[in-house]
Amino acid sequence: MEVFYITTPIYYPNAPPHVGHAYTSLFADVLARYKRLTGAKVFYLTGNDEHGLKIQRAAEAQSKHPKVFVDEMAEVFKKYWRSLDISYDYFIRTTDELHEKTVKEAFTYIYKKGYIYKAKYSGLYCVDCEKYYSPGEYIEVEGKPYCPLHNKPLEYMEEETYYFKLSDFKDYLLDILENRDIVYPKHYAQEIVSKLRSEELRDVSVARPAERVWWGVPVPFDEKYVIYVWFDALLNYISAAQYLDNKEVFKELWSSAHHVIGKDILWFHTVVWFSILRALDLDPPKRLIVHAFLTSKGAKMSKSVGNIVSIDELLQRYGVDGSRYLLARIFNMDKDSEFNFELLDSIYTSELVDTYGNLARRVGVLTQKKCGGKIYRRSIDAKIADEVLVKVGEYHDAMRNYEVSRAARIAVDIATLGNQYLNETKPWEKSDPSRELYNALELIRVTATLLSPITTRASRVLSEKLGFSVENPLKLRLESVERYNVIDAPILFRKLKTALRQEQETSSQQAPPQ
Ligand code: ME8
Ligand code: MG
Repeated sequence: MEVFYITTPIYYPNAPPHVGHAYTSLFADVLARYKRLTGAKVFYLTGNDEHGLKIQRAAEAQSKHPKVFVDEMAEVFKKYWRSLDISYDYFIRTTDELHEKTVKEAFTYIYKKGYIYKAKYSGLYCVDCEKYYSPGEYIEVEGKPYCPLHNKPLEYMEEETYYFKLSDFKDYLLDILENRDIVYPKHYAQEIVSKLRSEELRDVSVARPAERVWWGVPVPFDEKYVIYVWFDALLNYISAAQYLDNKEVFKELWSSAHHVIGKDILWFHTVVWFSILRALDLDPPKRLIVHAFLTSKGAKMSKSVGNIVSIDELLQRYGVDGSRYLLARIFNMDKDSEFNFELLDSIYTSELVDTYGNLARRVGVLTQKKCGGKIYRRSIDAKIADEVLVKVGEYHDAMRNYEVSRAARIAVDIATLGNQYLNETKPWEKSDPSRELYNALELIRVTATLLSPITTRASRVLSEKLGFSVENPLKLRLESVERYNVIDAPILFRKLKTALRQEQETSSQQAPPQ
């Protein structure tokens, strides 16, 4: 049986997740659900990155102990993921005992191998990135060094620290980045390769003095230090896969590990992570799938920039399925996508309401009116069958390439085909249109099957109300349903304008004359 291990970054819980985080988690969820549907054994990991100065300060600002703060935030994150139907299998927290133990053991292992040493450090630090910036990397605002990502002043820090010998891994990194098919899309690997070739690869500090940053995993052999939050965080991918307590499970999961990340943390997930793994005598992950940013007002959507769109706002406007579909539709690995309600409204209306929803509603109404809801197997038009099978092939191809936006469009194309077919054959003019309706129901079933990793609820509603089951899309066959039993003509997607008008109507009705 195929095993598919997929991860999201573990997010900083200094604030609730926004649409930018949902973008990553939804994408990973679509792949996880698709793989489950095709019969793979899936382990979908997400979680929170709970240590470090950023979290310590966020908790301080609320006068809370960081543990109390991160406990509360873990519930907030889980609530949001539930509200978006994110089907993660495990939620890791870096304050989990087993994770902390893994971090300590890994640190000691690497130290004993001679890849960690103690020395002095001074430099400019961005707390939001939890990273030191060297000259050339930061920008200057009014003569002061600023973080280019967060547009905030860098803080000068000077301390004795433990270093990880990143510089030792340069040849190894170049070799695997150039010769192995890990990073996807490929241009992200090339970006790192040219950086490695053009700049000196310096060792990184992997510890912080506990007097300054006390919220973290202590260095096992030197309690005056805590382990750097990124070293701690990256190890979540192996600690959750039972690196420490079940070698067999770990081996199986690790050989199929797919990390999904935004391009902001590409360096950490290639240069730093692959080197840590090498130092631990472990292979790199099977795949590192990198995506571009969701922008708002032209800038990367982020809490510190102040241009975020909340998940609540998205859900209120489009519902769960609508939100999931739209996030998948604007998903882009290569190019940044501007989050724009006008664009989303138009995609929602034309593809979900007017195409998919409309087809389901029309066919539901017609089968009930014309045939009492019962439609027995008939033969599918050869032309339709050909077109559908080509589309299904393209859909799998898109999914294999992680192109969820293309997959979504292909599925909706099949619904478009259904609407065209109805317009051409006009079943409402026939006394017994059961052949036409069987054809149309088959197109709905195929659409619902292909979209079930995305619009999960619509597929469930359709299978219940029309009487079919969603099966493995790799084994999708036409004419496999012997009889449809349509018990309802569901409205899958609310119209945006009608919804607004209804609100106005109900609010005026709420004030009746006394
Ligand atoms: O970096 N567009 O956590 P984080 C696209 N804790 N994706 C976005 C986004 C946007 N505007 N905003 C956030 C961290 N993301 C570390 C990770 S992993 C071992 C440790 C998504 O809370 C995207 O996946 O800053 C990005 O990489 C991630 O959230 C950063 O989340
Ligand atoms: Mg960030």
